[in-house]
Amino acid sequence: MPKVVEPNRAGPPGRDRLLSRFAREWLLPQWKWFLLGATFAAITAICAGGYSQITALATDWLKDGDNRIFTVAPMVIMALVLIRAPAMYWQTQANNRGVQNAIVKLQEKLFARLIDGDFARLQSKATGEYVSQFANDMILVREAALRVASSLAKSTLTIGAAVIYMLTTDWLLTVLLLIVYPIAFVPVVRLGARVRNSSRMAQEQAGALTAVLNEAFQGARTVKAFSLEAYQKSRAHRGFLERARLYMKVLRAKALADPFLEIVGGVALAGLFAFAGWRALTNDISVGEVLGVIVAIGVASPEIRALGTLNALLNEALAAAARIYAVIDEPQHVGDKPDAVAMGRAQGSVQFDQVRFGYGAGEDVLKGLSLTAEPGQTVAIVGPSGAGKSTVFSLLLRLYEARAGAVRIDRQDVRDVTLASLRANIAFVSQDAFLFDTTIRENISLGRTGATEEQVQAAAKAAACDFIDRLPGGWNAPAGEGGRNLSGGQRQRIALARALVSEAPVLLLDEATSALDSESESRIQQALAALAGQRTIIVVAHRLATVRRADRLFVVEDGATVEAGSHDELLAKGAVYARMVQHQLT
Ligand SMILES: Nc1ncnc2c1ncn2[C@@H]1O[C@H](COP(=O)(O)OP(=O)(O)OP(=O)(O)O)[C@@H](O)[C@H]1O
Ligand SMILES: [Mg+2]
Repeated sequence: MPKVVEPNRAGPPGRDRLLSRFAREWLLPQWKWFLLGATFAAITAICAGGYSQITALATDWLKDGDNRIFTVAPMVIMALVLIRAPAMYWQTQANNRGVQNAIVKLQEKLFARLIDGDFARLQSKATGEYVSQFANDMILVREAALRVASSLAKSTLTIGAAVIYMLTTDWLLTVLLLIVYPIAFVPVVRLGARVRNSSRMAQEQAGALTAVLNEAFQGARTVKAFSLEAYQKSRAHRGFLERARLYMKVLRAKALADPFLEIVGGVALAGLFAFAGWRALTNDISVGEVLGVIVAIGVASPEIRALGTLNALLNEALAAAARIYAVIDEPQHVGDKPDAVAMGRAQGSVQFDQVRFGYGAGEDVLKGLSLTAEPGQTVAIVGPSGAGKSTVFSLLLRLYEARAGAVRIDRQDVRDVTLASLRANIAFVSQDAFLFDTTIRENISLGRTGATEEQVQAAAKAAACDFIDRLPGGWNAPAGEGGRNLSGGQRQRIALARALVSEAPVLLLDEATSALDSESESRIQQALAALAGQRTIIVVAHRLATVRRADRLFVVEDGATVEAGSHDELLAKGAVYARMVQHQLT
């Protein structure tokens, strides 16, 4: 749903702090490019001053019938053009390079913070909202940084050159202009705060809209099957309208800048004619000098205007930068403790000791759950849907942390070891059997760094992946987004092969064979049986055939273990498990 964005009149705090932090962290490292840009900007500014100078001289030559008007003047102007034009190009290019470098670094940082950061944070928002940060927020930051880099030096220097020319020509006039102009600028600066505020709302909504669009495309199958096109269109329509409405606010605040600047320019020109004309008529300055001043103002005006609109752009970008920093600065909750040790290759014992856990601020999903797996054992977790079985795996992988109790591997609390070394000891097939949009071969070999072709082939064989050779493209066939080019059962087998190619001592299978035919399933059971004694295998499954041969079964109901024992023991007990088996057999 497009989120209703609460208007927040206060706006994000510390505009100047944000600006200077951004400049220091991202632009300063590129100072060489910006210095180069500024050098070329200085050249263009000097040439601009030259235009005023030659105009003044030429006008007087014309008046005096001096023939330098058609010899020297055109040549000087051509020379100025020939210098200024390439300088303009190189100035822009140097700045572009500096800004692009900075943006690449910023994107990498944002991405690294997200992908390295808490799993819970990635889960808490629709993926589209993060995607939008890389698309929409980055564009705003980039545009403003480009404009700042290219305009700031060029505009201030050009204005400076014009002012110096005017000062040497008519200081009184110049001083007058310098007093009047800044006053006229106050409203333009005021507009900035409005831009920043509306921009933040517009960007938040852009994130929500991206999420809506993402979902519509990802869920295309369901959309078509249920004829939900109209429903999706109306959701998107509302999003587009809201986007337009919020963006209009930004545009309106930005649009107000131009008329203000127009007024400022017009008043300046009118005043100039009155004042300079009068000075010329009283012979304090020459007609040529009046024209020179007009040219100087003509050259400076667009630059002043550029600075004015730059302010609006800058405020828009600052709102985006604040959103980016909100992600970058968010502390990580699940991370390595300062005294975390890297665990070596584990023996593979797993222990859940009275574990309590709930998602976010929600109530407990695991309510004092205990279970153990000895090294080399195959253990099954069974229980009704929603009982908390997948959650057990998430805690063992330390995607989340227990609220109470302890999760241990080789008798070490998972919180006391480094995340990397913990996860290196675990191979995992998730319930959704997620594949990456790359080749089949790569999808399998990702399970182990430096996996050889032989190891990949062996893992695929163990996971009953003989269908690969029949795929168009074979081992190089693309899996498609999330693996959608494959059938559900094929996807599961590739995901299983990826886990098997890893030699991790603990293997977690979450409904890893639920979509398979019984022949493939029994082949996989054999492959897993061959691993018995070498790996600790924890299986979550509903199917009896998948779990019955496990050394030990844990029956989980409503977040707690209610029964444990071998298949036969539990059958003999005649309680929960026995009833489940009875249901499946009848
Ligand atoms: N990311 C999440 N945020 C909030 N609640 C969640 C989240 N994931 C799971 N839950 C809740 O936690 C409970 C346990 O979920 P879990 O996925 O562990 O069940 P499960 O036993 O694996 O079920 P199934 O057999 O259907 O896969 C459920 O009630 C579910 O609603
Ligand atoms: Mg599950």
